[in-house]
Amino acid sequence: MPIHTLEITNVRNLQRALLQCSLQCNLIIGPNGSGKTSLLESIIILSQGKSFRNSQKKSIISEGNTSLTVTALLHDQTSNSPLHGTRVGISKFANGKTLAKIASEKIQRISEITSLLPVCVIEPNSTEIVEGSPSLRRNVLDWGVFHVEHDFVKHWRIFSSALKQRNALLKHKSSDLSQLRYWDEQLAPAAEQITKLRRRYFKDLDKHLRSSLDYFFNDESVTVELLDGWDSEKHFFESLNRNIERDKRYGFTSVGPHKADFEIKSDGYLAKDYLSRGQKKLAVYAIRLAQVLHYQQVCGKNVTLLLDDLPSELDKDNCEKVCKEIKRIECQVFITSVDTSNLNSLIIDTLSPKLFHVKHGTVTA
Ligand SMILES: Nc1ncnc2c1ncn2[C@@H]1O[C@H](COP(=O)(O)OP(=O)(O)O)[C@@H](O)[C@H]1O
Ligand SMILES: [Mg+2]
Repeated sequence: MPIHTLEITNVRNLQRALLQCSLQCNLIIGPNGSGKTSLLESIIILSQGKSFRNSQKKSIISEGNTSLTVTALLHDQTSNSPLHGTRVGISKFANGKTLAKIASEKIQRISEITSLLPVCVIEPNSTEIVEGSPSLRRNVLDWGVFHVEHDFVKHWRIFSSALKQRNALLKHKSSDLSQLRYWDEQLAPAAEQITKLRRRYFKDLDKHLRSSLDYFFNDESVTVELLDGWDSEKHFFESLNRNIERDKRYGFTSVGPHKADFEIKSDGYLAKDYLSRGQKKLAVYAIRLAQVLHYQQVCGKNVTLLLDDLPSELDKDNCEKVCKEIKRIECQVFITSVDTSNLNSLIIDTLSPKLFHVKHGTVTA
Protein backbone atom coordinates (compact mmCIF):
# COMPACT_ATOMS: atom_id res chain seq x y z
CA MET A 1 0.00 0.00 0.00
CA PRO A 2 1.48 3.40 -0.91
CA ILE A 3 2.24 5.94 1.81
CA HIS A 4 -0.35 8.69 2.15
CA THR A 5 1.09 10.48 5.18
CA LEU A 6 4.51 9.98 6.74
CA GLU A 7 5.55 11.20 10.18
CA ILE A 8 9.16 10.97 11.33
CA THR A 9 10.45 11.69 14.83
CA ASN A 10 14.13 11.65 15.83
CA VAL A 11 15.68 9.84 12.87
CA ARG A 12 19.23 11.26 12.63
CA ASN A 13 18.94 15.01 11.95
CA LEU A 14 15.18 14.78 11.21
CA GLN A 15 13.75 15.60 14.61
CA ARG A 16 10.28 16.05 13.31
CA ALA A 17 8.91 15.80 9.77
CA LEU A 18 5.40 15.40 8.45
CA LEU A 19 4.88 14.69 4.76
CA GLN A 20 1.68 14.48 2.77
CA CYS A 21 3.02 12.23 0.05
CA SER A 22 2.11 11.80 -3.58
CA LEU A 23 0.92 8.26 -4.24
CA GLN A 24 3.02 8.43 -7.42
CA CYS A 25 6.26 10.38 -7.41
CA ASN A 26 7.96 12.38 -4.64
CA LEU A 27 11.21 14.27 -5.27
CA ILE A 28 13.26 15.28 -2.23
CA ILE A 29 15.82 17.93 -2.96
CA GLY A 30 18.44 19.42 -0.65
CA PRO A 31 22.15 20.00 -0.15
CA ASN A 32 24.59 17.39 1.18
CA GLY A 33 23.97 16.49 4.80
CA SER A 34 20.48 18.03 4.85
CA GLY A 35 18.67 14.75 5.72
CA LYS A 36 17.55 13.29 2.35
CA THR A 37 18.94 9.80 2.91
CA SER A 38 17.66 9.90 6.50
CA LEU A 39 14.15 10.41 5.11
CA LEU A 40 14.41 7.28 2.94
CA GLU A 41 16.02 5.46 5.85
CA SER A 42 12.93 6.27 7.95
CA ILE A 43 10.68 4.54 5.39
CA ILE A 44 12.95 1.47 5.35
CA ILE A 45 12.97 1.30 9.15
CA LEU A 46 9.19 1.39 9.13
CA SER A 47 8.94 -1.35 6.50
CA GLN A 48 11.76 -3.64 7.62
CA GLY A 49 12.61 -2.68 11.18
CA LYS A 50 16.19 -1.87 10.23
CA SER A 51 18.20 0.51 8.14
CA PHE A 52 19.98 -0.12 4.84
CA ARG A 53 22.92 1.86 6.20
CA ASN A 54 25.12 -0.48 8.23
CA SER A 55 25.13 1.35 11.46
CA GLN A 56 24.40 0.90 15.10
CA LYS A 57 20.79 1.51 16.10
CA LYS A 58 21.93 4.14 18.54
CA SER A 59 23.47 6.27 15.79
CA ILE A 60 20.19 6.33 13.84
CA ILE A 61 18.32 7.89 16.77
CA SER A 62 18.78 11.69 16.82
CA GLU A 63 21.59 12.70 19.12
CA GLY A 64 20.43 13.40 22.67
CA ASN A 65 17.27 11.26 22.33
CA THR A 66 16.46 7.73 23.48
CA SER A 67 14.01 6.62 20.79
CA LEU A 68 12.88 7.19 17.23
CA THR A 69 9.39 6.77 15.79
CA VAL A 70 8.16 6.50 12.21
CA THR A 71 4.44 6.21 11.45
CA ALA A 72 2.52 6.22 8.20
CA LEU A 73 -1.01 6.16 6.97
CA LEU A 74 -1.02 3.64 4.12
CA HIS A 75 -3.47 4.24 1.32
CA ASP A 76 -6.03 1.53 0.71
CA GLN A 77 -5.89 1.15 -3.08
CA THR A 78 -9.38 -0.31 -3.18
CA SER A 79 -10.86 2.87 -1.66
CA ASN A 80 -10.63 6.52 -2.66
CA SER A 81 -10.82 7.85 0.86
CA PRO A 82 -7.66 8.22 2.98
CA LEU A 83 -9.88 7.47 5.99
CA HIS A 84 -9.91 3.85 4.86
CA GLY A 85 -6.16 3.60 5.08
CA THR A 86 -4.14 1.53 7.55
CA ARG A 87 -1.93 3.19 10.14
CA VAL A 88 1.41 1.50 10.78
CA GLY A 89 4.15 2.58 13.13
CA ILE A 90 7.47 1.61 14.62
CA SER A 91 9.49 2.90 17.55
CA LYS A 92 13.08 1.90 18.18
CA PHE A 93 14.75 2.51 21.50
CA ALA A 94 18.38 3.11 22.43
CA ASN A 95 18.34 -0.07 24.56
CA GLY A 96 17.71 -2.10 21.38
CA LYS A 97 13.99 -2.69 21.91
CA THR A 98 11.48 -2.27 19.08
CA LEU A 99 7.74 -1.61 19.25
CA ALA A 100 5.68 -2.04 16.08
CA LYS A 101 1.97 -1.51 15.52
CA ILE A 102 -0.64 -1.97 12.83
CA ALA A 103 -3.91 -0.06 13.39
CA SER A 104 -2.93 0.57 17.06
CA GLU A 105 -2.43 -3.18 17.68
CA LYS A 106 1.01 -4.30 18.82
CA ILE A 107 2.50 -6.86 16.43
CA GLN A 108 5.05 -9.63 17.05
CA ARG A 109 6.80 -9.67 13.69
CA ILE A 110 7.90 -6.69 11.58
CA SER A 111 7.28 -8.84 8.50
CA GLU A 112 3.57 -8.03 8.94
CA ILE A 113 4.37 -4.39 8.11
CA THR A 114 6.82 -5.48 5.37
CA SER A 115 3.93 -7.25 3.62
CA LEU A 116 1.70 -4.16 3.79
CA LEU A 117 4.49 -1.80 2.79
CA PRO A 118 6.93 -3.57 0.45
CA VAL A 119 9.86 -1.28 -0.15
CA CYS A 120 12.65 -1.56 -2.71
CA VAL A 121 15.69 0.67 -2.29
CA ILE A 122 18.39 1.57 -4.79
CA GLU A 123 21.16 3.74 -3.40
CA PRO A 124 24.64 4.80 -4.50
CA ASN A 125 26.22 1.72 -2.86
CA SER A 126 23.86 -0.63 -4.71
CA THR A 127 26.59 -1.36 -7.28
CA GLU A 128 27.78 -3.71 -4.51
CA ILE A 129 25.01 -6.03 -5.69
CA VAL A 130 27.11 -6.60 -8.82
CA GLU A 131 30.55 -6.34 -7.21
CA GLY A 132 30.07 -7.67 -3.70
CA SER A 133 29.50 -10.96 -1.91
CA PRO A 134 26.76 -13.49 -2.86
CA SER A 135 24.82 -12.60 0.30
CA LEU A 136 23.91 -9.20 -1.23
CA ARG A 137 22.51 -10.85 -4.36
CA ARG A 138 20.74 -13.46 -2.24
CA ASN A 139 19.02 -10.60 -0.38
CA VAL A 140 17.85 -9.16 -3.70
CA LEU A 141 16.59 -12.54 -4.87
CA ASP A 142 14.85 -13.31 -1.58
CA TRP A 143 13.20 -9.87 -1.48
CA GLY A 144 11.15 -11.07 -4.43
CA VAL A 145 10.68 -14.65 -3.24
CA PHE A 146 9.52 -13.39 0.20
CA HIS A 147 6.90 -11.07 -1.29
CA VAL A 148 5.61 -13.41 -3.99
CA GLU A 149 5.93 -16.90 -2.44
CA HIS A 150 4.23 -16.73 0.93
CA ASP A 151 5.50 -20.10 2.25
CA PHE A 152 9.08 -19.02 1.76
CA VAL A 153 9.53 -17.46 5.23
CA LYS A 154 8.21 -20.59 6.95
CA HIS A 155 10.71 -22.87 5.18
CA TRP A 156 13.51 -20.34 5.60
CA ARG A 157 13.00 -20.16 9.38
CA ILE A 158 13.09 -23.97 9.72
CA PHE A 159 16.15 -24.17 7.49
CA SER A 160 18.17 -21.45 9.24
CA SER A 161 17.52 -22.72 12.73
CA ALA A 162 18.47 -26.31 11.76
CA LEU A 163 21.53 -24.99 9.92
CA LYS A 164 22.67 -23.16 13.06
CA GLN A 165 22.45 -26.39 15.07
CA ARG A 166 24.26 -28.43 12.41
CA ASN A 167 27.05 -25.85 12.15
CA ALA A 168 27.42 -25.80 15.94
CA LEU A 169 27.93 -29.59 15.92
CA LEU A 170 30.44 -29.33 13.07
CA LYS A 171 32.33 -26.56 14.85
CA HIS A 172 32.66 -28.64 18.00
CA LYS A 173 33.97 -31.52 15.90
CA SER A 174 31.26 -33.75 17.32
CA SER A 175 31.89 -37.37 16.45
CA ASP A 176 28.23 -38.23 16.99
CA LEU A 177 27.05 -38.65 13.40
CA SER A 178 23.54 -39.56 14.50
CA GLN A 179 23.09 -36.01 15.84
CA LEU A 180 24.23 -34.57 12.51
CA ARG A 181 21.84 -36.94 10.78
CA TYR A 182 18.99 -35.60 12.92
CA TRP A 183 19.60 -32.04 11.71
CA ASP A 184 20.12 -33.23 8.13
CA GLU A 185 16.61 -34.62 8.24
CA GLN A 186 15.26 -31.22 9.34
CA LEU A 187 17.35 -29.39 6.75
CA ALA A 188 16.65 -31.48 3.67
CA PRO A 189 12.90 -30.87 3.13
CA ALA A 190 13.25 -27.14 3.94
CA ALA A 191 16.27 -26.83 1.58
CA GLU A 192 14.36 -28.47 -1.24
CA GLN A 193 11.31 -26.26 -0.74
CA ILE A 194 13.39 -23.06 -0.58
CA THR A 195 15.16 -24.00 -3.80
CA LYS A 196 11.89 -24.92 -5.49
CA LEU A 197 10.31 -21.57 -4.56
CA ARG A 198 13.39 -19.59 -5.63
CA ARG A 199 13.45 -21.42 -8.98
CA ARG A 200 9.76 -20.83 -9.56
CA TYR A 201 10.14 -17.12 -8.70
CA PHE A 202 13.17 -16.75 -10.96
CA LYS A 203 11.43 -18.49 -13.84
CA ASP A 204 8.40 -16.17 -13.49
CA LEU A 205 10.65 -13.13 -13.24
CA ASP A 206 12.66 -14.08 -16.32
CA LYS A 207 10.33 -12.46 -18.88
CA HIS A 208 10.43 -9.11 -17.05
CA LEU A 209 14.14 -9.42 -16.40
CA ARG A 210 14.93 -10.10 -20.05
CA SER A 211 12.94 -7.14 -21.32
CA SER A 212 14.30 -4.86 -18.60
CA LEU A 213 17.93 -5.80 -19.38
CA ASP A 214 17.29 -5.36 -23.11
CA TYR A 215 15.71 -1.94 -22.46
CA PHE A 216 18.61 -0.67 -20.34
CA PHE A 217 21.42 -2.22 -22.39
CA ASN A 218 19.84 -2.06 -25.88
CA ASP A 219 20.83 -5.64 -26.66
CA GLU A 220 21.10 -9.07 -25.15
CA SER A 221 24.63 -8.71 -23.78
CA VAL A 222 23.75 -8.85 -20.06
CA THR A 223 22.49 -12.13 -18.63
CA VAL A 224 21.48 -13.25 -15.16
CA GLU A 225 21.55 -16.88 -14.05
CA LEU A 226 20.34 -18.41 -10.78
CA LEU A 227 22.76 -20.61 -8.81
CA ASP A 228 21.09 -22.83 -6.21
CA GLY A 229 24.09 -23.21 -3.89
CA TRP A 230 23.98 -27.01 -4.20
CA ASP A 231 23.41 -29.65 -6.85
CA SER A 232 19.62 -29.51 -6.85
CA GLU A 233 19.32 -32.19 -9.53
CA LYS A 234 20.03 -34.65 -6.74
CA HIS A 235 18.56 -35.17 -3.29
CA PHE A 236 19.84 -32.69 -0.67
CA PHE A 237 21.05 -35.57 1.56
CA GLU A 238 23.44 -36.58 -1.22
CA SER A 239 24.98 -33.10 -1.34
CA LEU A 240 25.39 -33.10 2.44
CA ASN A 241 26.92 -36.58 2.44
CA ARG A 242 29.31 -35.79 -0.37
CA ASN A 243 30.67 -32.78 1.49
CA ILE A 244 30.65 -34.14 5.02
CA GLU A 245 34.46 -34.46 5.36
CA ARG A 246 35.01 -30.91 4.13
CA ASP A 247 32.22 -29.58 6.38
CA LYS A 248 33.79 -31.27 9.40
CA ARG A 249 37.20 -29.86 8.51
CA TYR A 250 35.95 -26.26 8.17
CA GLY A 251 33.25 -26.44 10.84
CA PHE A 252 30.32 -25.31 8.73
CA THR A 253 27.86 -26.55 6.10
CA SER A 254 29.41 -25.69 2.75
CA VAL A 255 26.49 -26.45 0.40
CA GLY A 256 22.82 -25.54 0.46
CA PRO A 257 20.34 -22.75 -0.26
CA HIS A 258 22.25 -20.48 2.16
CA LYS A 259 24.94 -20.40 -0.57
CA ALA A 260 22.58 -19.46 -3.43
CA ASP A 261 23.59 -16.64 -5.72
CA PHE A 262 22.85 -15.25 -9.14
CA GLU A 263 25.51 -14.68 -11.72
CA ILE A 264 25.43 -11.46 -13.73
CA LYS A 265 27.41 -11.64 -16.96
CA SER A 266 28.08 -9.28 -19.83
CA ASP A 267 29.30 -10.64 -23.17
CA GLY A 268 30.11 -13.85 -21.31
CA TYR A 269 32.36 -12.11 -18.73
CA LEU A 270 31.46 -11.64 -15.06
CA ALA A 271 29.78 -8.22 -14.87
CA LYS A 272 31.80 -7.23 -11.80
CA ASP A 273 35.03 -7.42 -13.84
CA TYR A 274 33.63 -6.11 -17.11
CA LEU A 275 31.02 -3.36 -16.70
CA SER A 276 31.76 0.28 -15.83
CA ARG A 277 30.43 1.66 -12.54
CA GLY A 278 27.59 3.45 -14.34
CA GLN A 279 26.70 0.26 -16.23
CA LYS A 280 26.72 -1.73 -12.98
CA LYS A 281 24.28 0.75 -11.53
CA LEU A 282 22.13 0.34 -14.64
CA ALA A 283 22.21 -3.45 -14.22
CA VAL A 284 20.98 -2.98 -10.66
CA TYR A 285 18.14 -0.76 -11.91
CA ALA A 286 17.26 -3.34 -14.57
CA ILE A 287 17.07 -6.18 -12.04
CA ARG A 288 15.28 -4.30 -9.25
CA LEU A 289 12.73 -2.58 -11.50
CA ALA A 290 11.95 -5.93 -13.14
CA GLN A 291 11.28 -7.33 -9.66
CA VAL A 292 9.02 -4.40 -8.76
CA LEU A 293 7.02 -4.73 -11.98
CA HIS A 294 6.73 -8.50 -11.55
CA TYR A 295 5.55 -8.15 -7.93
CA GLN A 296 2.96 -5.53 -8.84
CA GLN A 297 1.60 -7.65 -11.69
CA VAL A 298 1.49 -10.90 -9.73
CA CYS A 299 0.20 -9.50 -6.43
CA GLY A 300 -1.75 -6.48 -7.74
CA LYS A 301 -0.25 -4.34 -4.97
CA ASN A 302 2.05 -1.35 -4.84
CA VAL A 303 5.78 -1.38 -4.14
CA THR A 304 7.25 1.81 -2.69
CA LEU A 305 10.49 2.48 -4.52
CA LEU A 306 13.25 4.50 -2.81
CA LEU A 307 15.91 5.92 -5.10
CA ASP A 308 18.65 7.63 -3.16
CA ASP A 309 20.58 10.18 -5.19
CA LEU A 310 19.12 8.98 -8.49
CA PRO A 311 21.26 11.21 -10.73
CA SER A 312 24.57 10.07 -9.23
CA GLU A 313 26.62 8.05 -11.71
CA LEU A 314 23.94 8.16 -14.41
CA ASP A 315 24.29 10.23 -17.54
CA LYS A 316 21.34 12.19 -18.93
CA ASP A 317 20.16 9.45 -21.32
CA ASN A 318 20.25 6.74 -18.68
CA CYS A 319 18.62 8.94 -16.04
CA GLU A 320 15.82 9.55 -18.54
CA LYS A 321 15.55 5.83 -19.23
CA VAL A 322 15.20 5.10 -15.51
CA CYS A 323 12.54 7.82 -15.13
CA LYS A 324 10.55 6.52 -18.10
CA GLU A 325 10.66 2.97 -16.75
CA ILE A 326 9.48 4.16 -13.31
CA LYS A 327 6.60 5.97 -14.98
CA ARG A 328 5.65 2.81 -16.88
CA ILE A 329 5.74 0.66 -13.74
CA GLU A 330 3.37 3.01 -11.89
CA CYS A 331 4.64 2.40 -8.37
CA GLN A 332 5.00 4.96 -5.61
CA VAL A 333 8.50 6.40 -5.65
CA PHE A 334 10.62 8.64 -3.42
CA ILE A 335 13.63 10.08 -5.24
CA THR A 336 16.34 12.14 -3.59
CA SER A 337 18.71 14.45 -5.38
CA VAL A 338 21.14 17.23 -4.47
CA ASP A 339 19.71 20.68 -5.23
CA THR A 340 22.55 21.47 -7.67
CA SER A 341 21.98 18.46 -9.94
CA ASN A 342 21.23 19.51 -13.51
CA LEU A 343 19.19 16.34 -13.94
CA ASN A 344 16.47 17.58 -11.54
CA SER A 345 14.56 19.31 -14.34
CA LEU A 346 14.63 16.08 -16.36
CA ILE A 347 13.15 14.16 -13.40
CA ILE A 348 10.51 16.88 -12.91
CA ASP A 349 9.58 16.94 -16.62
CA THR A 350 9.33 13.14 -16.90
CA LEU A 351 7.65 12.24 -13.62
CA SER A 352 5.80 15.44 -12.47
CA PRO A 353 6.72 14.72 -8.83
CA LYS A 354 5.51 16.33 -5.66
CA LEU A 355 8.50 18.39 -4.50
CA PHE A 356 9.97 18.45 -1.02
CA HIS A 357 12.91 20.57 0.08
CA VAL A 358 15.15 19.53 2.95
CA LYS A 359 17.44 21.94 4.77
CA HIS A 360 19.23 21.25 8.07
CA GLY A 361 16.76 18.47 8.90
CA THR A 362 13.63 20.50 8.10
CA VAL A 363 11.35 19.17 5.35
CA THR A 364 9.01 21.54 3.51
CA ALA A 365 6.67 20.85 0.62
N1 LIG B 1 22.14 10.32 15.28
C1 LIG B 1 22.20 11.49 14.65
N2 LIG B 1 21.70 12.60 15.24
C2 LIG B 1 21.75 13.79 14.62
N3 LIG B 1 22.24 13.96 13.39
C3 LIG B 1 22.77 12.91 12.76
C4 LIG B 1 22.77 11.61 13.34
N4 LIG B 1 23.32 10.73 12.48
C5 LIG B 1 23.66 11.45 11.40
N5 LIG B 1 23.35 12.76 11.56
C6 LIG B 1 23.52 13.87 10.60
O1 LIG B 1 22.40 13.86 9.77
C7 LIG B 1 22.73 14.60 8.58
C8 LIG B 1 21.90 14.08 7.44
O2 LIG B 1 22.51 12.98 6.82
P1 LIG B 1 21.93 12.40 5.44
O3 LIG B 1 20.51 12.10 5.59
O4 LIG B 1 22.86 11.31 5.08
O5 LIG B 1 22.12 13.65 4.46
P2 LIG B 1 21.92 13.74 2.87
O6 LIG B 1 21.45 12.43 2.38
O7 LIG B 1 20.94 14.84 2.65
O8 LIG B 1 23.27 14.10 2.31
C9 LIG B 1 24.23 14.51 8.45
O9 LIG B 1 24.73 15.82 8.47
C10 LIG B 1 24.68 13.75 9.67
O10 LIG B 1 25.81 14.33 10.25
MG1 LIG C 1 22.41 11.09 1.09
